[in-house]
Amino acid sequence: MELTRFLAALAVFLPIVYGAPTTAANNLHPEILAAMKRDLGLDAEQAHVRVARELKATEVIEQLRTSTGNSFGGAWLVDGELNVAVTDEALTSEVIAAGATPLVVSNSLSKLEDAQKALDEMDIEQALDKRSKETGIAAYYIDVAANKLVLEALSGSTSQAEELAKQVGLVESEFEVRTVKDMPTTFATVRGGDAYLINQSARCSVGFSVTTGFVSAGHCGSVGATATTTSGATLGTFSGSVFPGSGDYSYIRGSSGNTFSGTINNYSGGTITVSGSTAAAAGASVCRSGSTTGVFCGTVRALGATVTYSQGRVTGLTQTSVCAEPGDSGGSFYSGSQAQGVTSGGSGDCSSGGTTYFQPVNEILSAYGLTLVRG
Ligand SMILES: *[C@@H]1O[C@H](CO)[C@@H](O)[C@H](O)[C@H]1NC(C)=O
Ligand SMILES: *[C@@H]1O[C@H](CO)[C@@H](O)[C@H](O)[C@H]1NC(C)=O
Repeated sequence: MELTRFLAALAVFLPIVYGAPTTAANNLHPEILAAMKRDLGLDAEQAHVRVARELKATEVIEQLRTSTGNSFGGAWLVDGELNVAVTDEALTSEVIAAGATPLVVSNSLSKLEDAQKALDEMDIEQALDKRSKETGIAAYYIDVAANKLVLEALSGSTSQAEELAKQVGLVESEFEVRTVKDMPTTFATVRGGDAYLINQSARCSVGFSVTTGFVSAGHCGSVGATATTTSGATLGTFSGSVFPGSGDYSYIRGSSGNTFSGTINNYSGGTITVSGSTAAAAGASVCRSGSTTGVFCGTVRALGATVTYSQGRVTGLTQTSVCAEPGDSGGSFYSGSQAQGVTSGGSGDCSSGGTTYFQPVNEILSAYGLTLVRG
């Protein structure tokens, strides 16, 4: 159906939208409107019309799903226009009467749903050939427009995905295997002081978020190492790392989907907002946030210290009277709301007190041309 006819059909169902668009309009939050403008190119009025129409479409879909029963083939919107698939040509008039565009397909939605449920009950991990590194079934779902069950697989698992589809009773025309590059992960919000794992084993702490990832200590990981959350979600990859020598710093380029926040974990249920990176003078108070001990404070004793670690000497560190323990490495040092540096090392602990050195953050930012995220 062409758009004008569809709009005419909708007008019957949606007098409120076309008669008085502002009524529905008022329900959309300004932030949602701004996002719809940014991501979908819709102005406020177009956004209201679209949302109202989509809401109405869900009702029409439910109505047709019930009335067409086992012949229902799925429904989807294309630029606001509702398409409804049926397996029985005789039911197309019913779809038209409901204001949608009918399509005749060969697979009913329930048939594809049954196959999907059968997959849900299979031990898919077990079925994969682990000899290849690129194995995994990332997702499977019904693509209603394609009228198929789609299995997304890494390159080493495409033939197994096909076998799985056949095992749940699907033939070639009922499924499609699509190759994807990555397995999905959950997304994380990264804050200074939060724990992260290097190559899924050793733990360090996040220093500060930068617009493209975060900075931490150099001894935490070398270039190419992965950074994940403690629950295994990918945060990024070490793309720069210096230790020992001219510093103890690293830059972890963040992977997409993560949020690098301009805040520091205060380890008492809240955060501290980072507002800049003006270096504090000797004698100034300074605090540190890290994933082993949480937050501890003290004072700056000396700037530009050269420190001897067993791995070698490191220049340009700041000595403080703040305590720290293993795993706090990389974590944020801050003075008020100003970022100071990332935890390097030291002596003592947080039971008996200690000395801790930090790598000044401004040197890390300039070494890699990074921009600090401010909260
Ligand atoms: C982590 O893995 C990378 C790449 O495989 C390797 O270069 C690095 O040495 C490993 N360990 C650390 C601590 O970076
Ligand atoms: C941490 O943040 C929480 C929530 O904002 C606040 O109630 C708490 O006092 C803060 N604690 C410290 C030690 O800053």
